[in-house]
Amino acid sequence: MRAVILAGGTATRMRPLTDITNKHLLPVGRVPMIYHPIAQFKRAGLRDILVVTGREHMGHMVQQLGSGHQFGVNFTFKVQDRAGGIAEALGLAKDFAGSEAVAVHLGDNIFGDSIAPYVKAYRDGGEQGAMIFLKAVDDPQRFGVAHIDEAGKVLSIVEKPSDPQSNLAVTGLYFYDNSVFDVVPRLEPSARGELEITDVNNHFINAGTLRSFTLDGFWTDAGTMESWKRANELSWEMDFADLIEHER
Ligand code: DAU
Repeated sequence: MRAVILAGGTATRMRPLTDITNKHLLPVGRVPMIYHPIAQFKRAGLRDILVVTGREHMGHMVQQLGSGHQFGVNFTFKVQDRAGGIAEALGLAKDFAGSEAVAVHLGDNIFGDSIAPYVKAYRDGGEQGAMIFLKAVDDPQRFGVAHIDEAGKVLSIVEKPSDPQSNLAVTGLYFYDNSVFDVVPRLEPSARGELEITDVNNHFINAGTLRSFTLDGFWTDAGTMESWKRANELSWEMDFADLIEHER
């Protein structure tokens, strides 16, 4: 299984902070935002990590992260020329993935608990189909929202619904088998002009191969000023001592 961090996008909701650098290099707690997904993958045993980011600030990203030697991981970098959506950014991971499954972590998502047990569950299940992670939130309109049946099975996902069917947000962590790279090229851009990860997930739901877990620990995105403030507060005491293995 290969690990992918999606750290492109325009981050207009974070201006002026993102005028001169990439959102994922802003601090969250005591470390740059992108250290959170890097630490998650490293702790889950996924040490070959692709970082996809926009062309404007790729230089800053490489300057901050380097080869990965410092963290005990190995980075590959890929440029997304324009912010064509999360699914488009994922499509850029095709060559990196080869014939393997992928674990995809949005660079602005902060999880309070380790993702390692879920990586293990997906691996133990033979790395088949898709796995997504839900979290009850107060403001589901901001997210992909899962419509579930009485048994908790996900029936469909709607991106940013004005009238949400539940309070269960689809978080920015997704596991897919290699068939995802056949799904992405068949997507049509949404009304906001992006290839949507929600359309990818609905494909796996329709194929009957999507599993979901509901998370207990805290989760937040850090893509708006409000949620970034919350992410900082929630993660202020987080310890990243294990992330730095070697001085640069
Ligand atoms: O945070 C979880 C939510 O993330 C999900 O519930 C939604 O279903 C999903 O669409 C997404 O919603 P957002 O509208 O908040 O996504 P945003 O455009 O902020 O992008 C999230 C991250 O994805 C961002 O930090 C970087 C990456 N990204 C995004 C775009 C649009 C890319 O790498 N390339 C892109 O073109």
